[in-house]
Amino acid sequence: MNPPEWTAVDRFFTDALHPADPALDAALTTSAAAQLPAINVTANQGKFLHLLARIRGARRILEIGTLGGYSTIWLARALPADGKLVTLELNPDYAAIARGNFQRAGVADKIELRLGRAADSLAQLIAEKAAPFDLVFIDADKASTAEYFTAALKLVRAGSVIVVDNVVRGGRVADATSTDADIQGIRRFFALAQSERRVDGTALQTVGSKSYDGFALLLVL
Ligand code: SAH
Ligand code: DHB
Ligand code: MG
Repeated sequence: MNPPEWTAVDRFFTDALHPADPALDAALTTSAAAQLPAINVTANQGKFLHLLARIRGARRILEIGTLGGYSTIWLARALPADGKLVTLELNPDYAAIARGNFQRAGVADKIELRLGRAADSLAQLIAEKAAPFDLVFIDADKASTAEYFTAALKLVRAGSVIVVDNVVRGGRVADATSTDADIQGIRRFFALAQSERRVDGTALQTVGSKSYDGFALLLVL
């Protein structure tokens, strides 16, 4: 399911609102050349994340799931000069590509990439008593989304924003009988968000060149 008009409309929005951007284009071409999976956010989703960070006035951003650093660059560009972004990635080959992309985009000095299992890096950030993050973007292995949300809640403060990618997965999130670990992980995240009094949130379905998926958006109270 990916009607051609979904991609055409994404292209229309991108042509209308996003000037050509060599650093972001290079992030995608180097990722493709290194055969990273093409599962980065789209340009307009990246811009949406960037605008959320600016609207929030984010000075510290946490990203879980770096890949080639495409979404990372969009988010890092929303930071003030002294802002900081911590991004977590398991795969050292992906991390190497991402680091090159951060250099090319001129944002490397704002970004700390922590290599390893996100669960371990999150536990480490909590143990370090890391200063609170203003925006958290959860976008790694979907089966662990609920656990990442639980950890993220320990790394934020009132007014922080938590964004969770890929919460629709072609509509499969609505299937309570799904045995897919990713769907079960996303559904566990929604159950936690529902019972968690420290957040208020919603979720939106999206279509586009990346087919049918969606974001959850939560405000920390
Ligand atoms: N945020 C990126 C896409 C991330 S894709 C963008 O939109 O541009 C998901 C990433 O999570 C992949 O790079 C994958 O290697 C990483 N990942 C998967 N399991 C992980 C884990 N347990 N810990 C940390 N990263 C993980
Ligand atoms: C997948 C992961 C993503 O983060 C995404 O945005 C789309 C797809 C995946 O693992 O299939
Ligand atoms: Mg994603």
